[in-house]
Amino acid sequence: MHLSERDRALLDGAEGEAARQAMAALVQLAEAYDAPDMVDIGYAHVHAGMALYKGDVELIESVAGQGARMAVPVSTNIANADMGDWASTGAPDSLGKLQKRAEAAHRAMGSATSFTCTPYWAGHWPTWNMHIASIESGVTVFANSVLGARSNRDGFFATYAGITGRYPRFGLHLDENRRPTHRVQVTARPRGTADFTALGYAVGRAVTNGVPLIAGLDRRPDLDELDALGVGMATSGGVAMFVIPGVTPPFGPEADGAGLPEAEVDEGALAGIFGEFSTGDETGFDLVHLGCPHASFEEMKHYARLLEGRRVADGVEVWITTNRVVRQMAREAGLLAPMLAAGAKVVSDTCPISCHFACTCSPDPALGVEPPKIRTILVDSAKQAHYVRDMIQCPTLLTTSELAVESACTGRFHPRPRRND
Ligand code: F3S
Repeated sequence: MHLSERDRALLDGAEGEAARQAMAALVQLAEAYDAPDMVDIGYAHVHAGMALYKGDVELIESVAGQGARMAVPVSTNIANADMGDWASTGAPDSLGKLQKRAEAAHRAMGSATSFTCTPYWAGHWPTWNMHIASIESGVTVFANSVLGARSNRDGFFATYAGITGRYPRFGLHLDENRRPTHRVQVTARPRGTADFTALGYAVGRAVTNGVPLIAGLDRRPDLDELDALGVGMATSGGVAMFVIPGVTPPFGPEADGAGLPEAEVDEGALAGIFGEFSTGDETGFDLVHLGCPHASFEEMKHYARLLEGRRVADGVEVWITTNRVVRQMAREAGLLAPMLAAGAKVVSDTCPISCHFACTCSPDPALGVEPPKIRTILVDSAKQAHYVRDMIQCPTLLTTSELAVESACTGRFHPRPRRND
């Protein structure tokens, strides 16, 4: 493998011990994937250091303590608690304070403490052909498929990439791996983000891995729908990139995927995803969650309009999750007021499957985190539903954003109606 002069200097410790270790780890990754060399990256989205696992926070602290400084713009992924107000979601002080330690370590390294799965809504917007690294699969698929940047689905290596500004050239960093491998004909007519998460979920399940070309959409999805489509795909499959002709750079409208293995997603398949994730108690749900992936400013406008003048039913909690930047913009735009007046909570930095509810996966009794006593979580995202079911073993109800708000305010589940019937 070819290493540049700077790569070798990093390996020799010229930029400190943290950078030396980071480069050594990246060389191992490169060798594992037969990468010919390293590329310069322009941005990294890195692991938060999850407070449910004390060792995870200590790892971030030790990297920062070794003097690591980010070589490129870096944002941080979702965390285990809203660091501005963890008590609002019922998280104990022990967890919130531990999470704050990770925040301090990231600040010391020069990262933007965004703590979100949608850093693009907080201003991190890599461009066409920029190499990046990302720990969050939704960020990876959005960057590859909507922005034309180049990213694999990374783990902690994204942190090493951020420290060094380098990454091995393999996977979706290579042109030959960015061509469609499947053609998925969509005959369903998805509308809104919930539908697009379900469409993505169906596509990911159909192709498992590879780069699906999506054909047949009757209109260009908006940015929130494109975001939703990608996270759905990355949840049910190993998909890290899709192609929509005329949307995904550099594929023009003429790209048709002729000759590739084919699959189809019709209205029945879409409705089937909603049915699969609607097994919970239709009058006994305790929590309604909106904002998976973390809501954009446009989605916050939509939620504010839906909740204006309404009141959440007794015994039901509503969480709207977004990132800090969007929450602040929404506050300044007067969008939080109708949400809060309706009884909803606007939560940043975390989400139901990332917060203390996930303590069933964490064995640390010292944290004093109790498993949630929740009967059913009603959601508007197939990704959230998938992980609520699998990570916190809680029954779910899945519907559209509009009907989720209607359900929250009436205390009765309003399922998504089939379309085209
Ligand atoms: Fe983000 Fe949580 Fe959904 S991390 S993508 S809001 S499951």
